[in-house]
Amino acid sequence: MFKGIIPFAHHLLKEVTNEGDIVVDATCGNGNDTLLLATLVGETGHVYSFDVQQQAIETTKQLINQHGWNNVHYIHDSHAKLETYLQEEHKKKIRAAVFNLGYLPRSDKKVITEAPSTIAAIQALLHNLEKGGRVVLVVYHGHVGGKEEKDAVLQFVTNLDQQYYGVLQYGFVNQRNDPPFVIAMEKRQ
Ligand SMILES: C[S@@+](CC[C@H](N)C(=O)[O-])C[C@H]1O[C@@H](n2cnc3c(N)ncnc32)[C@H](O)[C@@H]1O
Repeated sequence: MFKGIIPFAHHLLKEVTNEGDIVVDATCGNGNDTLLLATLVGETGHVYSFDVQQQAIETTKQLINQHGWNNVHYIHDSHAKLETYLQEEHKKKIRAAVFNLGYLPRSDKKVITEAPSTIAAIQALLHNLEKGGRVVLVVYHGHVGGKEEKDAVLQFVTNLDQQYYGVLQYGFVNQRNDPPFVIAMEKRQ
């Protein structure tokens, strides 16, 4: 069977991420992607985990602690400020990053990712990505404000120069109710 959206996003991250890598969860929410990344990079790696909601940071911390990892830097701030938080020795060394756009299920639906900060964060990530590194987005867009963000992000990634970036889109086109889809960018040189 075709891979579902989340399994496919995780597959794209697993393919390029190794022990010791520097990676980013741009929207940690309940911490599931942070846990995947922490496991992939191990104790010699480093995960930057962002969220604008304190509750999301706390939930993620708990999950990571339960699994005994000690390789996550939690940042209660917007992913748009990535470069402010990136350690000097990690600049241009990011291997992979993941976003889940939209709102955190079972929390305040008014706190959503928005195009200006999402695109600023993607730009900062692409600037700091290693050759062969990937930025993976799971785009949820059925909520209020979701369409505007989806359209702006698609316009931005469609215009990335193919000489430098491969960009793909993966999703089910016959699914009802604004199904989420994946956008992935890979740095070519
Ligand atoms: C769809 S949820 C993430 C789900 C998460 N990956 C998980 O596995 O549970 C989107 C998250 O993005 C966060 N968010 C919204 N705007 C943000 C921003 N500018 N910077 C960082 N996080 C943001 C929200 O607080 C929310 O927790």
